[in-house]
Formats: sequence, C-alpha cells, structure tokens
Amino acid sequence: MRLDKMLADMGIGTRNEIRKACRDGRITVNGTAAKNPAVHIDPDQDMVSVDGEPVRYTKYVYFMLNKPQGVVSAVSDSRTTVIDLIDCGVRGLYPVGRLDRDTEGLLLITNDGPLGHQLLSPKHHVEKEYLVTVKNPLKETDIQRIRDGIVIDGGETCLPADMRILDPHTCRITLTEGKYHQVKRMMLALDNEVVGLKRIRMKHLLLDKTLKPGEYRELTEEELRDLRESEPSVSE
Ligand code: URA
Repeated sequence: MRLDKMLADMGIGTRNEIRKACRDGRITVNGTAAKNPAVHIDPDQDMVSVDGEPVRYTKYVYFMLNKPQGVVSAVSDSRTTVIDLIDCGVRGLYPVGRLDRDTEGLLLITNDGPLGHQLLSPKHHVEKEYLVTVKNPLKETDIQRIRDGIVIDGGETCLPADMRILDPHTCRITLTEGKYHQVKRMMLALDNEVVGLKRIRMKHLLLDKTLKPGEYRELTEEELRDLRESEPSVSE
C-alpha cells in the first residue's frame, strides 16, 4: 500500500501534511528518509517511523451509528446489541461508551482500543451533547443549577455542564463526564423527567442527520482526525 495512505489511516495527518513531513525528512522507511509519499510499502514487513517513532499498521475501522431505541450498548447480550447492527465482518468492534437502551443517537463503534480509551478517559473531559425532551416545562433557573454543577441522587455532584433551553420541553445539555444515567438523574434533580434522549455530538463529531435510527456509516478522514486531535501527529 502507499506510504501516505498507511500514515493517513493511522491518523498521523492529512495527505498534505504527510507529503510535507516526507519532504522535511521526518518519515523513514527501514531507516531511510522517504521523500516520496506515494512509495509502496508492505505494512507487515517495512518499518515506518515518524520523527524516529515507529508506526505500526493496524487496520482499524470507525463507524458512526445512529443508535435506535431498544438496542443495548454492549458487545454481546441476549438482546440485540449495537454491534449486531454493524455488518462489516471485522472482529473486535465495540461501542465507545454506553447509551441507555431507550436513548438514541450518536454512538462511535470501532476496533481501535487506544482511541476509545482516550475518548472515555475521565481526564480528557470529552464533550457529549444531548437533545433532551422533558415532561414538565423547563425553568430559566434550571440553567444556572446545571452550569454550577448539580447534585444528583446519592449526593454526587456533577461537573458544571452547559444547558440551553430550545422550547419549554426541550433543551440541549453538554456534559464532560459520563455518570450512570447522568442526564436522567440531572433532570430528576430539577424535579423533571426525561421523556426523550438523543446524543447529537461527541467532541467535534456530529450525528449525521441523514442517518436514520439503526443506520451507520464510516467516519470521514477529517472526522477521524478531529476525534484524534490530542494524539501526536505530523501537524504538530
Ligand atoms: N444520560 C442518560 O441518562 N442516559 C444516556 O443514555 C446518556 C446520558
């Protein structure tokens, strides 16, 4: 395969960035600077390095699923799982995080363990945005309580979160953590009740509005690059 494709697949940078890194002598194949990004390499045999760091090729896949209600966010279960919905023949797929069975919307499905780990790590505070429909009318005072960090049942204090009221029964909430049933428990703390919950964003990744519930598609190179933003790359 082409060197630039291999490096782009591994999230090292855009084709342009990789071309420049080759010109700058930052990329080597078997210890020799690779000036031509189109050179063909054997990812199983050739040792490719960027700035002296070896890059090992693993064929990762990344899907954006519009999770439908009624499906569990697990790898295996007696009920239908989100993985059952992905028909690609690749092993080792798992959902990056969990949505409740009755929650719908954006779920990243991949076999890339390190990326999932990074996105879920509490220390990275990855933003997750939800569209929330509630039973009782929302109050302006709810916004400040959510922004201050609301105390939910059991005495847990949530990190400050963002809330925007769209209409009396609908709001957007952006979290930077992932407590169990968090949005539902936040709404209960506001004497309200979630009647509909949909995740619409994770980090920069927006749910593709053309995906119907249950549909999925591969991430674009740009979407993947944004998700991997804080990992080392040739653009730094
Ligand atoms: N918060 C919830 O309560 N449920 C979800 O599925 C996600 C966030």
